[in-house]
Amino acid sequence: MPLRILCLGDIVGRPGRQVVHQRLPGLVRQHNVDLVVANAENIAGGSGITANLFHKIRTYGVDVVTLGDHIYKKFDIVPTLQNSERIVRPANLASSAAGRPFTVVSTNSGVNVAVFCVLGRIFMNLPSDDPFAAADRVLQQVPGSVRVCVCDIHAEATSEKTAIGHYLDGRCSVMFGTHTHVPTADARILPGGSAFITDLGMCGPYDSVLGRRKDRVVKFMTTNMPQPFDVATGDVRLCGALAEVDPETGRAISMVRIEAQGEATDQAYDADDARGPGADK
Ligand SMILES: [Fe+2]
Ligand SMILES: [Fe+2]
Repeated sequence: MPLRILCLGDIVGRPGRQVVHQRLPGLVRQHNVDLVVANAENIAGGSGITANLFHKIRTYGVDVVTLGDHIYKKFDIVPTLQNSERIVRPANLASSAAGRPFTVVSTNSGVNVAVFCVLGRIFMNLPSDDPFAAADRVLQQVPGSVRVCVCDIHAEATSEKTAIGHYLDGRCSVMFGTHTHVPTADARILPGGSAFITDLGMCGPYDSVLGRRKDRVVKFMTTNMPQPFDVATGDVRLCGALAEVDPETGRAISMVRIEAQGEATDQAYDADDARGPGADK
C-alpha cells in the first residue's frame, strides 16, 4: 500500500486557519491520507505562530508543522519548538537557534517519516547557512531504517528551489516549495524518484497580494508611504499537494496538486492572532 502524504502551503492568518479547519478533515478521509505536513509560518496574524495555534491545527489534522523566515515573529512558540517532535525549524539556521532541524514521526500504519525544512538564501531577509549542506547534514543524521523523507524548501527564488530539488533528487521522497504563496503548475516526479513542486501556494485569502490586503500593498508600492499590511479575507482557498510514496523504498509514485475553496469570511483576525504592538512586522 502506498503511503499518502498531504502537504499544505503557508497557512495565512485566521482565513487560512478556517479553510484548513473546514476542508482538511474531508480531504484526509477522501484521499486516505496517512500524514499531513503543513507550513504554518504565517498562521498568527499573518506572521509567526503561537503555541495555541500550533495545538489548534494539530487538532484539525496537521501532523507535522514546518516553518520559514517568520519562525520567531511570535516568541511564544519557542518552548514548543524546543519540546515538541511535531514542529521543525529551518535546518540551516544557526546551530543554537531554538527548535529541531528535523523530526521523525510514525504514521498510523507504522511507517516512520522524516520531515525537515530549509530556507533559501536568494532574496531572503533572514540570514541562513547553505541549504544544500544543511540538507546533507540532516539526511546523514536520519536513521537508515527511515526510508520516507519530506522536505519543505522555503525560498523566494524559483531557481533556488528547483536546484535544491535536483540536488536532493532520490534522497527525499517528497519536496515542496513554500514562501511565495502562489501555487505553481509543475507537480512532478523527478528522474531520481522524488516528488517535487516549486510552490504549493498558500492556505489563505487569494483576493490579496500574497495574503495581505491588496489596497494596502498597492498603495505602498505606488506611494512609498508605509501602510499596515493587514491580512485579507477574500477568495479563501486551501492549496497543497498529495504525494503517494512506496514505504519500502521511499520513492515517490505520484504527485498531484490539491486545491479546495473555503467559505467566505469578512473577519481577518480573532483573539488567537495574538496581535500586539509590532507583533505583525
Ligand atoms: Fe509564508
Ligand atoms: Fe516565508
